[in-house]
Amino acid sequence: MRTHHCNELRESHIDQTVTLIGWVNSARDHGGVIFIDLRDREGLTQCVFHPEENPEVSALSHTLREEDVVQVMGRVSKRLEGSENAKIDTGAIEIVATKLTIVNKADVLPFQLDKELSNEDMRMKYRYLDLRRARMSKNIRQRSVITSAARRYLDDSGFFEIETPILSNPTPEGARDFLVPSRLNPGRFYALPQAPQQYKQLLMVAGMEKYFQIARCFRDEDLRADRQPEFTQIDIEASFVDQDDIIKLVEGLLANMFKAGLGVDVPQTFPRMTYADAMDIYGSDKPDTRFEMKITDLADVFAATEFKIFRSILDGGGVVRAINAKGFATITTGQMNRLNEIAVQAGLPVKNLAFIKLENGEYKSPLWKIFTDAEKVNVASKLDLAEGDIVFFAAGSRESVSTILGRVRSECAVMMELNKDSTKFNFLWVVDFPLLAHDEETGHWAAVHHPFTRPHPDDIAKLDAGDYANVRAVAYDVVLNGYELGGGSIRIHEKDLQSKMFSVLGVGPEEQQIKFGHLLDAFRFGAPPHGGLALGLDRIAMLVAGEDSIREVIAFPKNNKGADLMAQSPCQIEHKLLREVYIQSTYKDPKLSAEAKV
Ligand code: AMO
Repeated sequence: MRTHHCNELRESHIDQTVTLIGWVNSARDHGGVIFIDLRDREGLTQCVFHPEENPEVSALSHTLREEDVVQVMGRVSKRLEGSENAKIDTGAIEIVATKLTIVNKADVLPFQLDKELSNEDMRMKYRYLDLRRARMSKNIRQRSVITSAARRYLDDSGFFEIETPILSNPTPEGARDFLVPSRLNPGRFYALPQAPQQYKQLLMVAGMEKYFQIARCFRDEDLRADRQPEFTQIDIEASFVDQDDIIKLVEGLLANMFKAGLGVDVPQTFPRMTYADAMDIYGSDKPDTRFEMKITDLADVFAATEFKIFRSILDGGGVVRAINAKGFATITTGQMNRLNEIAVQAGLPVKNLAFIKLENGEYKSPLWKIFTDAEKVNVASKLDLAEGDIVFFAAGSRESVSTILGRVRSECAVMMELNKDSTKFNFLWVVDFPLLAHDEETGHWAAVHHPFTRPHPDDIAKLDAGDYANVRAVAYDVVLNGYELGGGSIRIHEKDLQSKMFSVLGVGPEEQQIKFGHLLDAFRFGAPPHGGLALGLDRIAMLVAGEDSIREVIAFPKNNKGADLMAQSPCQIEHKLLREVYIQSTYKDPKLSAEAKV
């Protein structure tokens, strides 16, 4: 249907007769001469319809509207001097049309494609139109490019691409499972995989040695800008490897993807930080290190303090810490209220954050007058407190102070626009995660990563002794600019250790056999040492595209209620279909249609 695409013709093509096909991006009438910009996914080419050259074609061109699909045949001509368009690659030439076929007329669009639209629902309802915009088309293309780069790199590194089941059993990755009833097995259900974790480990037992998959994963959890109910992982597993092998492989993989997607060279090795340091210094296990605002410990400053609140917290083994938001003394009352809200949500036991602001040489603070002269000097010097700065304090347990100041740090960065530079890529490995965390609600210990993660060899004695809080895992996350891009671990490959781990998590022998019997069995037959990692492809694509939501790099995403507004999914299912899979709904929908009731 075409001889060239719409971003192909240059001055070297002048005088050739060509055929293009695409959408009418814009149509202009200059005194009877019609100019259209014809668009396909590659770009734009200007086509001109002169009444005197071809009256019939010209008459037809007067009927053209935006987004009509048309085929244009014509001669490539140099544009008149002064009318070149340096903004587009084909701007030196135009097509003088000799033939026009209107392939398909377009109705008036629900919104203009060349303007940003803030109504996201509208964009989602007409996603196929939204995707025609240059920005979205670029994002989808970039995603395809980085996905291909990942495939190439892993293929070159000797990895087999292997698919694993989507209809499977519940997977313990920390979210709720999506369930699918089985018609052939009444009363039984499949669960969609939260990750192919157990299958990829079983592929190691099967001797595949190096596996990867561009894997769709499904998690029924609260949705956010970087979370969708269905998303894509670059899922990796390898045998006979240690943590350094996986780290090196993934550094190379990410470097290749960023080179392919953006042409940038990211460092060949990323810095590493322990989980404990990340929490102490940044108050987050996925710190954005593009800006400092580090958490400073003030134990030595207040070692001899008589200020009662600090005294009792320090004596009780707690900490007093602060961050300096440099230059942010200009904070508005509204922003201050928002920070207080966030701090309270993060666990601040009082309504307002304690702060010190230095403005016009004056220290403004509810705390300042309580501090001794020595404390004032030491606080100021330790926090590098200068004119225009504001310092926020938190005191309490080490964990709660980290959580509070970490959230305050992130929010200050948003308010101060310190997190806007999407051309800076601060990769970071966070290592030595804790193996277990105590769930206050259930009273049980839960796996921080997942139950298949290997305890740190130096901490096995602590695990045996029941000192669960202090057992580290051989687990690592790769972080970029405050986003967790991926996580992985070296796995348990011994039946007894795996079984012990399940027991610690409160899964008794019988339940272990029912839920994980296949894995425990497999470990009896010569399981190799193995480990791996999964990267969130959507998040990588988002950061490569410089976007701040993964919805902008997914062709058909769901909104934050898990709905696809275009396809109107999820939808009601007729009772007849439900009966076939032995499902009876207890939900009484007031809006249930008569048809669905049949
Ligand atoms: P984890 O649960 O850390 O690890 O997931 C790996 C990566 O997947 C991405 N991710 C998501 N992206 C979008 N929407 C979501 N709802 C979502 N949930 C997770 C993140 C995350 O870092 N089986 C292990 C991996 C392993 O141990 O090898 C796992 O799934 O970028």
